[in-house]
Amino acid sequence: MAPRTPICERLGIRHPIFGFSHSVDVAVAIAEAGGFPVLGLARELPHEIPHILDEVQRRMGDMPYGIDLMLPSRVPQAASIDELRGSLPGGHVDFVQGLRERFGVQAPTKPSFFTTQVRSEALFNEQIEAVLSSNCRGVATAIGLRADLIERAKARGKVTFSLVGSVRHARKAMDMGVEVLVAQGYDAGGHTGPVGTLSLLPQIIDVAEGRPVLAAGGIGTGEQVLGTIAMGAQGAWLGTLWMAARENHTPSALLRRLVDSASEDTLITRAHSGKPCRVVRSEWIDAWQQDDAPTPLDMPLQQVLTGDVFASMHEHDDPRLIYEAAGQSVFAIRGETTVAEQMAGLVSGMERAWSRLERLMA
Ligand SMILES: Cc1cc2nc3c(=O)[nH]c(=O)nc-3n(C[C@H](O)[C@H](O)[C@H](O)COP(=O)(O)O)c2cc1C
Repeated sequence: MAPRTPICERLGIRHPIFGFSHSVDVAVAIAEAGGFPVLGLARELPHEIPHILDEVQRRMGDMPYGIDLMLPSRVPQAASIDELRGSLPGGHVDFVQGLRERFGVQAPTKPSFFTTQVRSEALFNEQIEAVLSSNCRGVATAIGLRADLIERAKARGKVTFSLVGSVRHARKAMDMGVEVLVAQGYDAGGHTGPVGTLSLLPQIIDVAEGRPVLAAGGIGTGEQVLGTIAMGAQGAWLGTLWMAARENHTPSALLRRLVDSASEDTLITRAHSGKPCRVVRSEWIDAWQQDDAPTPLDMPLQQVLTGDVFASMHEHDDPRLIYEAAGQSVFAIRGETTVAEQMAGLVSGMERAWSRLERLMA
């Protein structure tokens, strides 16, 4: 028997499993398998977002789902990538050009977020309007918060989630009226703070004043999901695991890297976005750890500097350079699978952990 928590009732889902993904196919499969999918839009081209939201709405039907935006503060009001390219420090430009030559990086041929966009207030406002006009059940935000978004989302009956990495973040989110706190620990793939999930979760539950808290970061098994529920979480929020699902269309060299990587093959670096972000190591990431590497630029400039290389390694599936945000949970990726198989594995892991406890109690 696997547990259902009050948030499962509130959202109308079968399992206390929340799946973050940038893939519509993964999100639909998570919903079909009884979890709550949260589709990330932070990497989409602005003109494509309305089409993506239309597609999601059509394919989800009545199934509940959430949308996630990354809204860091201290970004320009509006910016053009070409103008910002012209303002990059010469030493950084030369270092990256040296790496392009050393690795024979081919130019990307397809337009992408990373080669054409800059994170700015103007971009965020466009994303916010699109999300608010969609029929998503939940709105999640990471890295930053916007009080007006939370207020307007709640006024439209949407459930608001915020990823928090510290008690200070949690208090700020609660002051703005956020309803569900996602305690995202250091172990997580993506942008993360310095406290591990196991230490962070009880602290966030302690200050949450009864709000639902979800656990995120380093979770890849059902036993871990049940463990966080035993600690008081209402569910677990997973990101890395879904990259092993066929529905994610993960480039084959990246999938190989994820399968071959252990937790210690992930590290936190500012080389991806300018903010601390846990990624799986590759020769590109290693090059930024060397003594001759410059200190990464702040967000959004680091992505202006390196975005074409990130786009290229994904487009050309470069086995030496390709990397992605990935958590210590990468240990749970053992080969290509499907979302349905992953969900079944998570549920049976919860059941195994429950039976083990029953035997111990007997
Ligand atoms: C490839 C990837 C991209 C991510 N992008 C975002 C994002 O855009 N917004 C966000 O809120 N979280 C993002 N995250 C973090 C997830 O929401 C989640 O907190 C994290 O994956 C949990 O840890 P885990 O990776 O160990 O499961 C990303 C994670 C991964 C692996």
